Amino acid sequence: MSKLTHNKRFIPSFLVIVILIGIGTIFIKNKSTTLEITKEKDITRKIKSMTLEEKVGQMLQAERSQITPQEIQKYNIGSILSGGGSSPNSNTADGWVDMYNEMQQAALNSSSGIPIIYGIDAVHGHNNVKNATIFPHNIGLGAANNPELMYQIGAITGKEIAATGLNWDFSPAVSLAQDIRWGRTYESLSENPRRVEGLIGNYIKGLQEQNIAATAKHYIGDGHTTFGTGDNDYLIDRGDVQITEEELREIHLPSYKEAVSNNVKTIMVSYNSVNKLKMHENKYLITDVLKEELGFEGVVVSDWEGINEINAPTLEEKVALAINSGIDVLMQPYNWAEIYNIIINSVNESKISEERIDDAVYRILKLKYDLDLFDNPMAKSQSDVLGNEEHREIARKAVRESLVLLKNEENILPLSKDQKVLLVGPGSNNLGFQCGGWTMEWQGVEKNSLTYGTTIREAFKSVLGENLYTNFSKAEEADVIVVVIAEKPYAEGFGDNEDLTLNSSTVYKNNINTLEKVNELGKPVVTILLAGRPLLIDDYIEDWDAFVMGWLPGTEGNGVSDVLFGDYNFKGTLPMTWPKTIDQADDSMIMENYDGANYQFEYDFGLVY
Ligand code: BGC
Ligand code: BGC
Repeated sequence: MSKLTHNKRFIPSFLVIVILIGIGTIFIKNKSTTLEITKEKDITRKIKSMTLEEKVGQMLQAERSQITPQEIQKYNIGSILSGGGSSPNSNTADGWVDMYNEMQQAALNSSSGIPIIYGIDAVHGHNNVKNATIFPHNIGLGAANNPELMYQIGAITGKEIAATGLNWDFSPAVSLAQDIRWGRTYESLSENPRRVEGLIGNYIKGLQEQNIAATAKHYIGDGHTTFGTGDNDYLIDRGDVQITEEELREIHLPSYKEAVSNNVKTIMVSYNSVNKLKMHENKYLITDVLKEELGFEGVVVSDWEGINEINAPTLEEKVALAINSGIDVLMQPYNWAEIYNIIINSVNESKISEERIDDAVYRILKLKYDLDLFDNPMAKSQSDVLGNEEHREIARKAVRESLVLLKNEENILPLSKDQKVLLVGPGSNNLGFQCGGWTMEWQGVEKNSLTYGTTIREAFKSVLGENLYTNFSKAEEADVIVVVIAEKPYAEGFGDNEDLTLNSSTVYKNNINTLEKVNELGKPVVTILLAGRPLLIDDYIEDWDAFVMGWLPGTEGNGVSDVLFGDYNFKGTLPMTWPKTIDQADDSMIMENYDGANYQFEYDFGLVY
């Protein structure tokens, strides 16, 4: 037998053996990942079989653009997130599902075989995703104050997230904004804990029934920081909460109790400090109060690079402080690999105990088990779910219910459908202004073309047809002028604003111009404000016959026309005190400083037809 013929026979049989071994390994591997965790008690067994490296990987959350599938596999990475505006090249349901499945397959191929969980900020609908339904931001939902609606919004947001394959939503913010100079005021449903408590449970239920983990955030006190203490060069965001423990428990803890009693699966730690101690190192509030006293059994996740701000000289010390305080998942979008090594070394040097690691990993695996990820790790795209008509109808309803009528002299509203209307102002035809921050981009987009939706102008056009004018040259012919003024989109500390006038940093520059031009015409004026919070309007409101607070309504502008033309009545009431002067910006109905008589409008105010 020649060497050649020998080899020819050898190769096929060799290949067969290799293939059989390969299939066998895949089979055993799949078998071990699917069969190993079919019952809750299997989680403990699984953890016993894991190496320290595998456990540590589970505790890390990397940003999608900062990690490859190969790295997910190699490091047994536990979770991935999309930061604000971070999406796959193809921003469609298919694009998201393909990206997710590729990462998920990598995780299943890792030595532990544990699936990833993928988180995103779907904070007013699935707002990173093109053509998704965009609901009003929380402050508008607080004005609507309708628990049943919150359930529907949670459910729809959950369905749209599931349609893109993802399974963890960093929402709801249960923040209680106590100072409206804060750039995140619109993330807060209300300054009043009772209103927030009444709404979040249903939202969490709606979301989690779709197998999407909710996140109550930002634990704790985020809306109560003292002006001038902001971190990261911000005025107020990420600042210090100066409060007694009694007040903290009375004002801020009830929302978390409510979230926990509705089985919220995760809670995010806040950037702020409480009496100078950064929340990311606050063992008392995270472990003793949240986990032990409130009995929270889910996952505590740090905020985006939140551990960086801990007061300690080295990254090693910050990591140990964070984990020892009770943080289970570290959202370290960029330096996750560095943190991975730090945690392993710290455990080896007994700076972090293995029990703490095991507790964190238990919580993480339990979360994945509850979401059925061990049995159903792979996603299927459902492009017909994203932004469909049925979902937009609910968003439109939410817009209607969120509007607050603050002034209506001589019943100038509702408008009649055969009036001639001049509709002007920077917010009148701009989806970017309607949606605000956290829409397609972290800071939002100033343009109209960011996604699919209906602007207020388009909504008015479909009611009025030829009788809608949008140009000042037609002013003479108009019976009434509707002017939509607006804040610019912003997020987080970029929205901090020290004076809140119509001239201030977060307000679009053309507002005052437009208001002056409108004034010169001497016709009846209806003003709509699109903004993430009350602004100081005392110098202008006299000139307006009617005034409507529109908040940040999202993509369904026809909710505005539904109410302005009288097909529906107003329902919204102010979820925040509306100051007349800047020194009232931190007045709140639950604080001692509340002085009803002197505000522009009191908490809970709202007129109807
Ligand atoms: C925000 C969180 C958000 C996280 C992830 C942080 O900057 O404070 O609310 O969930 O980023 O995008
Ligand atoms: C991300 C956000 C994140 C923020 C924190 C941004 O680059 O897109 O998701 O909240 O950074 O500063």
